[in-house]
Amino acid sequence: MSTEPGGKRAPVTRAAVIAGIGSYVPPGVVTNDDLTARLDTSDEWIRSRTGIATRHVVSPGTATSDLAVEAGQRAMKSAGSADIDAVVLVTTTPDHLCPATAPAVAARLGLTGVPAFDVAAVCTGFLYGLATASGLIAAGIAERVLLVAADAFTTLIDPDDRTTAVIFADGAGAVVLRAGEPGEPGAVGPLVLGSDGALAHLIEVPAGGSRQRSSGRVAPPEDHFFRMRGRDTYRHAVERMTAASAEAVRRRGWRLPDIDRLAAHQANARILTAVADRLEIPAGRRLSNIESVGNTGGASIPLLLSQAARDGRLTGGQKVLLTAFGGGLTWGATALTWPDLTPS
Ligand code: UT7
Repeated sequence: MSTEPGGKRAPVTRAAVIAGIGSYVPPGVVTNDDLTARLDTSDEWIRSRTGIATRHVVSPGTATSDLAVEAGQRAMKSAGSADIDAVVLVTTTPDHLCPATAPAVAARLGLTGVPAFDVAAVCTGFLYGLATASGLIAAGIAERVLLVAADAFTTLIDPDDRTTAVIFADGAGAVVLRAGEPGEPGAVGPLVLGSDGALAHLIEVPAGGSRQRSSGRVAPPEDHFFRMRGRDTYRHAVERMTAASAEAVRRRGWRLPDIDRLAAHQANARILTAVADRLEIPAGRRLSNIESVGNTGGASIPLLLSQAARDGRLTGGQKVLLTAFGGGLTWGATALTWPDLTPS
């Protein structure tokens, strides 16, 4: 399936429809003052440059699958059924390099035997996961897919790197997707996805993979941490999320003023404002939780949707635009009518 504007796409006959949503953040909270006590930064810098005041972090011994299991359980409870025949986990912080984390999550959810695999698209992971789940359903491979997005980002960042330690945090969100009709509320709309591997160096973990291992080079410890060239990433994030959003709305047959809620990856409050301003989506229609949860990577969109649906900022029947950007580089967007459901 081409994802370029104007590319050939087959008509969708069976859609993936959101039937349940849940989320989980670990109980540990780190405030800006906590960070200021050990890093050369300030509450004022973090708030004004990122919009973040607090973030949730895992405690020692807690891994991504622990977050994923909690969110997955809640999504199944919200869907009112544990009848699932495929599990897709999107993460940048798998429990291990090998095997994938999804089978362990599936087993702990009582789903041993179903296909389960990981998808890696960094902060765009949830949208790539929606595309994967939609494909499983459209091909008749699965009727009901559990899509979990979980990241324990604080296990990957250098706690002494002030440029990433103040931004990234931990959390998980999950949706149950069932086979349905493309016109139904909750049906995942046309997905606009893209990547540019020539810019992979903007967000990377240099060591630990086959490139470093096969070189025979022993990597310095800092190469095992996540690195981001913030300013360049920022520029691409704004441009790509804006363009993908406009294209997703166009393919859905809507116009930007029709959008009731924008749920963008919570990368940085300034990025969110820049994207929403360019799309001319008014302030009252922008969903955000970055102030209290920080940047939770691939988990950020389902975590935001789940919290907003729970507190009434997002209700059934509203037209929602989702967009994300992350390492790879990767980006994407989709637009859908929010279904009537009770988040858990
Ligand atoms: O989630 C997926 C993709 N990620 C993103 O989309 C994130 C994109 N980038 C960003 O959010 C922003 O670029 C950051 C929040 C990472 C940085 O904000 P910025 O306004 O782009 O700052 P900068 O990197 O241009 O740095 C400005 C100054 C620098 O000092 P000099 O060179 O001007 O003296 C940095 O060293 O701020 C300094 N700085 C800090 N100062 C206090 C960087 N981090 C900190 C910090 N506290 N935590």
